[in-house]
Formats: sequence, structure tokens, C-alpha cells
Amino acid sequence: MAMKIGMLTSGGDCQALNATMRGVVKGLYNSKEQIEIYGFERGYQGLINCDYRILTSREFSGILTEGGTILGTSRVPFKSIQEAGEDGVNKVEEMKKTYKKLGLDALVVLGGNGSQKTANLLSEEGLNVIHLPKTIDNDIYGTDTTFGFQSAIQIATNVIDCIHTTAASHDRVFIVEVMGHKAGWLTLHAGIAGGADIILIPEIPYDVDFVTRAIKERARTGKNFTIIAVAEGAISAEDAALGKKELKKKMADDAEKYSSVSYKLAAELEKKTGFEIRITIPGHVQRGGSPCPYDRVLSSRLGVAASEAILDKDYGKMIAMRNGETVRVPLKDVAGKLKSVDPNSSIIKEARELGICFGDE
Ligand code: F6P
Repeated sequence: MAMKIGMLTSGGDCQALNATMRGVVKGLYNSKEQIEIYGFERGYQGLINCDYRILTSREFSGILTEGGTILGTSRVPFKSIQEAGEDGVNKVEEMKKTYKKLGLDALVVLGGNGSQKTANLLSEEGLNVIHLPKTIDNDIYGTDTTFGFQSAIQIATNVIDCIHTTAASHDRVFIVEVMGHKAGWLTLHAGIAGGADIILIPEIPYDVDFVTRAIKERARTGKNFTIIAVAEGAISAEDAALGKKELKKKMADDAEKYSSVSYKLAAELEKKTGFEIRITIPGHVQRGGSPCPYDRVLSSRLGVAASEAILDKDYGKMIAMRNGETVRVPLKDVAGKLKSVDPNSSIIKEARELGICFGDE
């Protein structure tokens, strides 16, 4: 009897999703088992609606370098997974039904934090689940890194590099807004790699007066341009001090005035510095294109390690990378946790010693 393996990609896409699936499938096909792969279309949506196609090993050939996902993806927030839809459908029950109807032996989920919570829920419901950590945000707890992260750093760094030359020519202050609502990993790494002068991340709330001082100090020493790398989720110290309800209201008010944190910051800085401020937002470009070599290796290794866990029937695990080794981490230990940048970590200390301002001093 063939082993029947379901596979889906869920949440925002990123580079190396295809490379990871290729790793899983190659690992499985290289075993003595007979394998059948059921690819669900558009993430959990496909599992809920029993929308799948059977994939042969041929379809996983030549996709190592291909961006996006051959299965398609969608966002089905964890909160909505547990609620019945307008049609009264219980999504968890539908997913279990699909799994049983197809007689699957295991389900491989490639996804970020939200998708991981659903994977854990399905595992608790008795399905044999393996999770692979995907996201450009690198905010999955329990793994040193996630696939997509290094490729996105490369793109965001390239944007900062390009902005550097024009900023210097025009004596301008530039804000480059980098993806990451909850965690600042991508902004921090691209900011350091691109030589940003100021880096603002959600984990270190900023004071606009400190940012102003850093810009003026550069100008005083003859450096008339400044690059500020700002995470989408960067927050002022003033806002961070608000209670949950007040903050929600403040965010809603700001959203009416400014299309993102960069516009709010630019308006304040223009007033305080008198400098011309320009904003560049690469947006979803950061998730696009071919995975970088680091991600190709990482995802190939994670994929094969996932196939080993499946062949060992060791389920309910996330396949993680720790200290350069692939490891199996119980989903129940990591689901629902966020890996944030520690403001006291050495990377922040070293960045400060490079002269980078985080807007908090
Ligand atoms: O997948 C992670 C991420 O790219 C975040 O960095 C970003 O804030 C968000 O997704 C954007 O989501 P969407 O693709 O739904 O606009």
C-alpha cells in the first residue's frame, strides 16, 4: 500500500516554498516506500473544500529555484478556523473529513505562525501533522531561522543599497519601510547589511526626538543624508505606553491620516529637521523571486528532514534548524509563541556600537 501524504502551503507566500516541498518529496521517493502526494490548492482552503490534485515526482523537478508556490496559498486566520462560516461549515471538521476520506497517512504544512497554530490544532485532533517553518519575518519560535528570511534580507538590502546612492547625491533623508508587523528581524538584518543609520523595529519603541537628534548630528558632521530602515510594525514609545483599547483607537486614527508608519514618521521628521524626506516601500517585492542559495540549502535540508520524520511516523512536530542541525520540535511546545528580537541581545549592542540609532536614546 502506498503512503498517502497530503501537502499544503499556507499564509503569505515566500521564496523557497517550492524548494522545501521538493526536499520533502525527494526524501520520500528515495525511501523504499511507495508514495502518493496529495497537493491541496490554496492552503487550508483546499483541505477544507477537499480541493486537491495528485502530484507526481515529475512535478517537483525543476522547482528548486522557482519563487511562489506551485500549490497556491491563502490566509485562513486561526481565529476564523474555529468559527463556523456563513454557510455554517465547521472548518476543523471539514479538514478532518478530507483527511479521512482520502485516507492520508500524514499532512505536511508549510506555513508561518498562524498556520502553525492550525497545524497544532489538527495534530491535537488526531491528524498526523508535520510543520515546516516558512516566513520572511523569521518570527517562528523554536527554530533559529525560517526559509524565506535570507532571500528577503537580500532584496531589502538591495533596496537600501540603491537608495543610498540617490540619498547621498541629493542630501536627502530616506525612509525605507521593510516588511514585518510584529517582529523586526528583517529590518534589523537588512538595515545593518545596507548600512542604515537609523533602524526602527517593533521591539524597540522609538522617540521621534531621538531620531531627529541622530539626523541632525549626522548633518553637523557633514553627512547630509540619512537612511532610516523602518519595520512596518515600528511603534513610538508614546503609543507603546497606551493601554490595549486606547492603542487600537490611536492606530485607527493614524490609519486615516497616514497610509503607513513611514508617512507618520516622515511628517513628524520634516517638521522637526527641516530636511526633505522621501519614502520607499518595496512591499511584496520582498517575498518574490528566486530563493537565495542559503534558503535553497536550508529548505532542502528541512524538507528532507521532514520526510525522515514521516518515514519514522514521528508526527506532531515542526522541523526546525538549531545550531546548524535539523531537529524535530513538538508543535505543542511552540504553537502560539512569537520569536521577537531581544533588545538586549548582542546584535543590537553591536549595531549600536556601529553608530546605528534605534530611536530610544
Ligand atoms: O508573510 C509575512 C508578511 O509578508 C509580513 O511581513 C507582512 O506584514 C505581511 O505578510 C503582509 O501580508 P499580505 O500578503 O496579506 O499583505
